[in-house]
Amino acid sequence: MKVAIGADHGGFNYKNKIKEYLVARGFDVLDAGTFSADSCDYPEIAHKVAAMVAGREAEKGILICGTGIGMSIAANKVHGIRAALCSDTFSAKATRQHNDSNILCLGERVIGEGLMLDIVQVWLDTPFSNGERHIKRISMIEK
Ligand code: RB5
Repeated sequence: MKVAIGADHGGFNYKNKIKEYLVARGFDVLDAGTFSADSCDYPEIAHKVAAMVAGREAEKGILICGTGIGMSIAANKVHGIRAALCSDTFSAKATRQHNDSNILCLGERVIGEGLMLDIVQVWLDTPFSNGERHIKRISMIEK
Protein backbone atom coordinates (compact mmCIF):
# COMPACT_ATOMS: atom_id res chain seq x y z
CA MET A 1 0.00 0.00 0.00
CA LYS A 2 1.17 3.54 -0.80
CA VAL A 3 0.89 6.02 2.06
CA ALA A 4 1.44 9.77 1.55
CA ILE A 5 2.85 11.59 4.54
CA GLY A 6 3.38 15.26 5.34
CA ALA A 7 4.05 17.57 8.25
CA ASP A 8 4.88 21.16 8.99
CA HIS A 9 7.65 22.13 11.43
CA GLY A 10 5.30 21.35 14.34
CA GLY A 11 5.02 17.73 13.21
CA PHE A 12 8.42 17.24 11.65
CA ASN A 13 9.83 14.84 14.29
CA TYR A 14 6.76 12.60 14.24
CA LYS A 15 6.81 12.50 10.44
CA ASN A 16 10.29 10.99 10.58
CA LYS A 17 9.22 8.44 13.24
CA ILE A 18 6.11 7.44 11.28
CA LYS A 19 8.10 7.17 8.06
CA GLU A 20 10.54 4.77 9.76
CA TYR A 21 7.58 2.74 11.05
CA LEU A 22 5.91 2.59 7.62
CA VAL A 23 9.09 1.58 5.82
CA ALA A 24 9.77 -1.13 8.43
CA ARG A 25 6.27 -2.50 7.75
CA GLY A 26 6.85 -2.55 4.00
CA PHE A 27 4.58 0.35 2.98
CA ASP A 28 5.59 2.58 0.05
CA VAL A 29 5.91 6.10 1.45
CA LEU A 30 5.34 9.27 -0.59
CA ASP A 31 6.87 12.09 1.46
CA ALA A 32 5.36 15.52 0.76
CA GLY A 33 7.67 17.31 3.22
CA THR A 34 8.54 19.35 5.12
CA PHE A 35 12.17 18.31 5.09
CA SER A 36 13.58 20.48 7.88
CA ALA A 37 12.45 21.90 11.22
CA ASP A 38 12.26 25.42 9.72
CA SER A 39 8.91 27.16 9.95
CA CYS A 40 6.57 26.49 6.99
CA ASP A 41 2.87 26.71 6.10
CA TYR A 42 0.78 23.64 6.94
CA PRO A 43 -1.95 24.27 4.29
CA GLU A 44 0.57 23.72 1.48
CA ILE A 45 1.61 20.33 2.87
CA ALA A 46 -1.98 19.33 3.66
CA HIS A 47 -2.99 20.13 0.09
CA LYS A 48 -0.14 18.08 -1.39
CA VAL A 49 -1.04 14.97 0.63
CA ALA A 50 -4.78 15.45 0.09
CA ALA A 51 -4.25 15.78 -3.67
CA MET A 52 -2.23 12.54 -3.72
CA VAL A 53 -4.98 10.67 -1.85
CA ALA A 54 -7.89 12.22 -3.77
CA GLY A 55 -6.04 11.53 -7.04
CA ARG A 56 -5.45 7.91 -5.97
CA GLU A 57 -1.68 8.26 -6.18
CA ALA A 58 -1.70 7.09 -2.56
CA GLU A 59 -4.34 4.94 -0.85
CA LYS A 60 -4.05 6.72 2.49
CA GLY A 61 -2.38 9.80 3.95
CA ILE A 62 -0.99 10.89 7.30
CA LEU A 63 -0.60 14.57 8.24
CA ILE A 64 1.05 15.93 11.36
CA CYS A 65 1.27 19.47 12.70
CA GLY A 66 1.49 20.89 16.21
CA THR A 67 -2.14 20.15 17.03
CA GLY A 68 -3.29 18.24 13.95
CA ILE A 69 -6.14 20.74 13.70
CA GLY A 70 -4.80 22.98 10.93
CA MET A 71 -3.93 19.94 8.83
CA SER A 72 -7.40 18.42 9.27
CA ILE A 73 -9.19 21.67 8.43
CA ALA A 74 -7.09 22.13 5.28
CA ALA A 75 -7.21 18.50 4.10
CA ASN A 76 -10.99 18.30 4.49
CA LYS A 77 -11.40 21.13 1.97
CA VAL A 78 -10.32 18.74 -0.80
CA HIS A 79 -13.20 16.80 -2.36
CA GLY A 80 -13.03 13.10 -1.59
CA ILE A 81 -10.93 13.57 1.53
CA ARG A 82 -12.14 12.34 4.90
CA ALA A 83 -9.42 13.47 7.27
CA ALA A 84 -9.73 12.39 10.91
CA LEU A 85 -7.85 14.05 13.75
CA CYS A 86 -7.19 11.37 16.37
CA SER A 87 -5.66 11.52 19.82
CA ASP A 88 -6.82 8.08 20.97
CA THR A 89 -6.96 4.55 19.56
CA PHE A 90 -10.74 4.18 19.99
CA SER A 91 -11.33 7.09 17.59
CA ALA A 92 -8.67 5.80 15.18
CA LYS A 93 -10.48 2.46 14.95
CA ALA A 94 -13.98 3.94 14.79
CA THR A 95 -13.13 6.47 12.09
CA ARG A 96 -11.84 3.70 9.83
CA GLN A 97 -14.89 1.50 10.50
CA HIS A 98 -17.55 4.21 10.28
CA ASN A 99 -16.11 7.07 8.19
CA ASP A 100 -13.65 5.18 5.97
CA SER A 101 -11.27 8.06 6.75
CA ASN A 102 -8.51 8.27 4.18
CA ILE A 103 -6.23 10.71 6.00
CA LEU A 104 -5.11 10.51 9.62
CA CYS A 105 -4.15 13.78 11.32
CA LEU A 106 -2.02 13.89 14.45
CA GLY A 107 -0.75 16.60 16.80
CA GLU A 108 2.89 16.29 17.81
CA ARG A 109 2.40 18.80 20.63
CA VAL A 110 -0.65 16.91 21.92
CA ILE A 111 0.17 13.21 22.26
CA GLY A 112 3.26 11.21 23.22
CA GLU A 113 5.25 9.11 20.79
CA GLY A 114 4.07 5.69 22.05
CA LEU A 115 0.40 6.60 21.76
CA MET A 116 0.99 8.23 18.40
CA LEU A 117 2.49 5.02 16.98
CA ASP A 118 -0.36 2.92 18.44
CA ILE A 119 -2.87 5.25 16.75
CA VAL A 120 -1.04 4.95 13.42
CA GLN A 121 -1.03 1.15 13.70
CA VAL A 122 -4.71 0.86 14.61
CA TRP A 123 -5.75 3.33 11.90
CA LEU A 124 -3.77 1.54 9.18
CA ASP A 125 -4.88 -1.95 10.23
CA THR A 126 -8.61 -1.34 10.70
CA PRO A 127 -10.75 -1.95 7.60
CA PHE A 128 -13.89 -0.01 6.70
CA SER A 129 -16.93 -1.88 8.02
CA ASN A 130 -18.74 -1.61 4.65
CA GLY A 131 -21.96 -1.18 6.60
CA GLU A 132 -24.85 0.08 4.50
CA ARG A 133 -25.63 2.97 6.83
CA HIS A 134 -22.00 4.10 6.79
CA ILE A 135 -21.79 3.94 2.99
CA LYS A 136 -24.97 6.03 2.77
CA ARG A 137 -23.62 8.66 5.16
CA ILE A 138 -20.27 8.88 3.38
CA SER A 139 -22.00 9.36 0.04
CA MET A 140 -24.05 12.17 1.65
CA ILE A 141 -20.76 13.88 2.56
CA GLU A 142 -19.44 13.47 -0.98
CA LYS A 143 -22.59 15.09 -2.41
C1 RB5 B 1 2.59 25.88 13.99
O1 RB5 B 1 3.09 26.71 15.00
C2 RB5 B 1 1.20 25.40 14.33
O2 RB5 B 1 0.31 26.46 14.23
C3 RB5 B 1 0.78 24.27 13.43
O3 RB5 B 1 1.71 23.24 13.52
C4 RB5 B 1 -0.56 23.64 13.71
O4 RB5 B 1 -0.69 23.29 15.05
C5 RB5 B 1 -1.74 24.35 13.20
O5 RB5 B 1 -2.89 23.90 13.34
